[in-house]
Order: sequence, then structure tokens, then C-alpha cells
Amino acid sequence: MNNFSDFIAAIYDPLLSPFLKRVRAAVMNELSEFGEKSILDLCCGTGDQLKVLSRNGFRNLHCLDLSDSMLKIAAKGNYPITIYNKDATKTGLDSGSFDAVIISFAIHEKDSNTQVAMLNEAHRIIKENGLLLAVDFIFDERTKLPGRLGITFVEKLAGGEHYRNFRNYIKNKGLAGLINPKRFQLVKSERKFYNALTVSLFRKK
Ligand SMILES: C[S@@+](CC[C@H](N)C(=O)[O-])C[C@H]1O[C@@H](n2cnc3c(N)ncnc32)[C@H](O)[C@@H]1O
Repeated sequence: MNNFSDFIAAIYDPLLSPFLKRVRAAVMNELSEFGEKSILDLCCGTGDQLKVLSRNGFRNLHCLDLSDSMLKIAAKGNYPITIYNKDATKTGLDSGSFDAVIISFAIHEKDSNTQVAMLNEAHRIIKENGLLLAVDFIFDERTKLPGRLGITFVEKLAGGEHYRNFRNYIKNKGLAGLINPKRFQLVKSERKFYNALTVSLFRKK
């Protein structure tokens, strides 16, 4: 574990929570009928989304990430959340383990092979007819300038490969260009943050 990763993990929630509050609430609304069912947050980061769900009565919550620094924050607060330190492209978890899988803000920063591997792994571990809840960026004719500028600024700060992957992701039309409709059927999608984010609900086929 290095100090820089610890630093990023420590500032993640204080910096981003105010912007993410509505997104976390939108994800919770979509999963509202899943209170007792098993939900995995793939690339959960600090676990903020699952903590919101836990505070609102959800049970059977699971959090998976590769970063020790992020998971150290996720473990704080005595929430009843099962934590896995694993790679989202090959979790080793049993097929069909979860009623719903959340992937939020984790796809855009990956190269295209990793994006596909993560979505394939999500498909494998979701139960038959289970749900995928995907949150990520979209820039199109509906996206307003403050959304484009704000997100591009933050992604540029992340720099290097992360920024290159973000730009390719946007160029390739984001999730719409990635998710195979033969494997995941879009149920609904809503926009947030100046129409620069989508909260999309898919059902596994
Ligand atoms: C931008 S953060 C998003 C965190 C969280 N989902 C959220 O909505 O705030 C991306 C997370 O993906 C994790 N991550 C990146 N590659 C991963 C991989 N191959 N397996 C598991 N986690 C990964 C990072 O450690 C980081 O915590």
C-alpha cells in the first residue's frame, strides 16, 4: 500500500460525496425492491454506495475492489457489508451469485479489453434474470456544457492512461457502445449531472 493511494482513498468521499449524493439515491431507488436480496458493488471503492443502501435497510451487501486503500475506507463504520479484495475481471466468485451487481464510475477509466472483461464477469456472477446497475459518463447532444467541462477537468487531473481511456470511452459512446444487448436488456436509464451521467438498469438475458 502506498501513501498516495491512501491519500486518494481518504479524500475520495469528502471531495465527491456532495456531487454523488443524487446518484447514490438514484441507484438506491432503482434497487428499492431488492432490500433483502444479494447486491454486489463491483469496483466499490470506498463503499459509499453500499453504506447508503445499508443505512436505508438493505441487507446482503457485498463490496469488491482491488485497492487496499479503498477497502480500508470501505471497512470503516461497522456496516454489515462483506468485503472482497479481488480483481473485477476474474473475481473467482461462483456463477449466478448475486441478484444485482452495481458498477459505478469504474468502466470509463479502463482500456477496452478490461471493460469487456469486467462486463463479462458481471454477467457471469449475476443470477438468471438478475440486474446490472451501471453508472457512468455520457457526452452527447443532450449533455450540457457544465457537465462536460466539470467531468473533463476531473478526468484530466487523473491524467495518463486513465484520461486516455476516458477519452476513448466517450468517443466510443460509453456504455451504449459496450453493453451487448444480447446479454443485457436495457430496462431504463436516467440522466444526472447536466445530462453527463447515466444511471442505467439492465436485466441479464
Ligand atoms: C473511480 S472509482 C469508483 C468507486 C465507486 N464505484 C464509486 O462509485 O465511487 C474506481 C474503483 O475501481 C477500482 N478498480 C479498478 N480496477 C479494478 C479491478 N480490476 N478490480 C477491482 N477493482 C478495480 C479502483 O480501485 C477504484 O476503487
